[in-house]
Amino acid sequence: MGSIAIEIFGKKLRNPVMNASGTLGYGREIERLWSIKVLGAFVTKGLSILPCQGNPQPRIFDLGCGMLNSIGLQNIGIKRYLEEYTEFFLERKTPVVVNIFGFTEEEYIECALAIGDNPVVLAIEVNLSCPNVKTGGILFGKKPETVFRIIRGVKSATNFPVIAKLSQEVTDIVELAKAAFEAGADGLTLINTIPGVVLEENRVIRGGLSGPFLKSIALKAVYDCSKAVPIPIIGVGGIMNTEDVISFLRAGAKAVQIGTATFVYPNTIPKIVKELKKRRSFD
Ligand SMILES: Cc1cc2nc3c(=O)[nH]c(=O)nc-3n(C[C@H](O)[C@H](O)[C@H](O)COP(=O)(O)O)c2cc1C
Repeated sequence: MGSIAIEIFGKKLRNPVMNASGTLGYGREIERLWSIKVLGAFVTKGLSILPCQGNPQPRIFDLGCGMLNSIGLQNIGIKRYLEEYTEFFLERKTPVVVNIFGFTEEEYIECALAIGDNPVVLAIEVNLSCPNVKTGGILFGKKPETVFRIIRGVKSATNFPVIAKLSQEVTDIVELAKAAFEAGADGLTLINTIPGVVLEENRVIRGGLSGPFLKSIALKAVYDCSKAVPIPIIGVGGIMNTEDVISFLRAGAKAVQIGTATFVYPNTIPKIVKELKKRRSFD
């Protein structure tokens, strides 16, 4: 079997496959089924400066064509996460992409500062699909100006590579990619979920749509942005199998992330990594 190692942000990864943020918990949970060492890098669920309780259950809905989640960014807080999990990833020699978010611009910067010079961190992935409480909940990632300000702020607070994670819930994702690049982003993750609604008897549940129907939208974002900015792109959205991975790499992605597919078949990631190793090249 050939090597499928890649180089990204000046580091060598075993392979180009990562999990998508929020879909493998904190890292320990999946180890009942497979070792986290299978991954090129592990992506944390979204972490904030203060712990976050998230939304009431139920918060995952199977829609057939994909999934709607309304987790509400539940997490234990970035400081506790790094204290409790750094050793786990060091032992497994698995680099970590720390996904961060904030409800204010300052909170993003506080998260970056809290990471310090942690030995397992490969990069910081900045989730820009988060409501800004100071503007009544408008997502930071909707405007090039706020993308620019947050990425520039996070860059100034860390020596780690900074990845801007963008959503397609905008008219022109290329404008956002350019703003992130101009602010100093070292990479892009494309794309986050797209907003949707599930109607239950007494409740309207808003959440993010993910899974197969996102694939073509995400591929377009990767293709267009890879032509517009000269930084590595991590493709995510609806990847279900090895052919999908190859499509994203051909569209211009340097690496990929897999999310919803793990909910359908928990061994999807190891299966894809094994199949990629059997192929001679990604073309
Ligand atoms: C249950 C769930 C939780 C998620 N949590 C986060 C998160 O905390 N931060 C983030 O940036 N994206 C989060 N996402 C978005 C995924 O990382 C990914 O961008 C999206 O699901 C598209 O990929 P997929 O179709 O392979 O699932 C979450 C997605 C799901 C399904």
